[in-house]
Amino acid sequence: MARRKLVAGNWKMHGVAADLAEVNAISVAAETAGADVALCVPATLIERAVRAAPGFAIGGQDVHQADKGAHTGCISASMLLDAGARLTIVGHSERREAQGESDEDVKAKAESALGAGLSVIVCVGESDAVREAGQAVATVSGQLDASLPHDPRAAAGIPARLAVAYEPIWAIGTGKVPSTDDIGEMHAALRARLRAAYGGAGDDIRILYGGSVKASNAAEIFGVADVDGALVGGASLKAADFLPILEAASA
Ligand code: PGA
Repeated sequence: MARRKLVAGNWKMHGVAADLAEVNAISVAAETAGADVALCVPATLIERAVRAAPGFAIGGQDVHQADKGAHTGCISASMLLDAGARLTIVGHSERREAQGESDEDVKAKAESALGAGLSVIVCVGESDAVREAGQAVATVSGQLDASLPHDPRAAAGIPARLAVAYEPIWAIGTGKVPSTDDIGEMHAALRARLRAAYGGAGDDIRILYGGSVKASNAAEIFGVADVDGALVGGASLKAADFLPILEAASA
């Protein structure tokens, strides 16, 4: 079945007021794009980005599983919504590695965000060593099974509001990209896991590819079966780099 592509930018720890012009330029292009577009900016920029680009999907990059409480430095789903965010990334490998987030944490975060009404991008991906050991598909499939939300409150809205991003760790920010065969093999495996978890609704959930996506490789990656968009880091910071990726997704 045809799934409309989603191209989400992940600004990571980049972005201050001076960069709001980029948000605005990207939002203007998004209005006529043939794909859904979103930008996940630092929490400090969410509210101003929403004001700079009314109607455009601005997101956070992480969320705490609790709604409120003694969690210094953390942000809840209701706070993201309050700031104007519509979505959030959870389980990015930079958080799994640097903040020691487990699949259980990621699942709880996804359930909290979906329950609050946000859309969610759940990230999974293997290390270099795991791929070299021939364990990439098994490892990432297991990661997805353990990270997927099962909250019944969220079930009704899941297909529309949940996306998965396959991001091989060794491809993030390195300029290295898996072969289209390897991407296709992984996305097919993840599609099977989504069907196992959600039945027919698993066919409606978008599976994004992430890791060194840029203008020069986007069209080829989007041509792979079961690639329903991209999570883009470095190439999402400037409209000039990001817009050609939106065009490739719209084709
Ligand atoms: P990259 O990052 O596009 O800079 O490789 C992707 C990501 O980490 O989401």
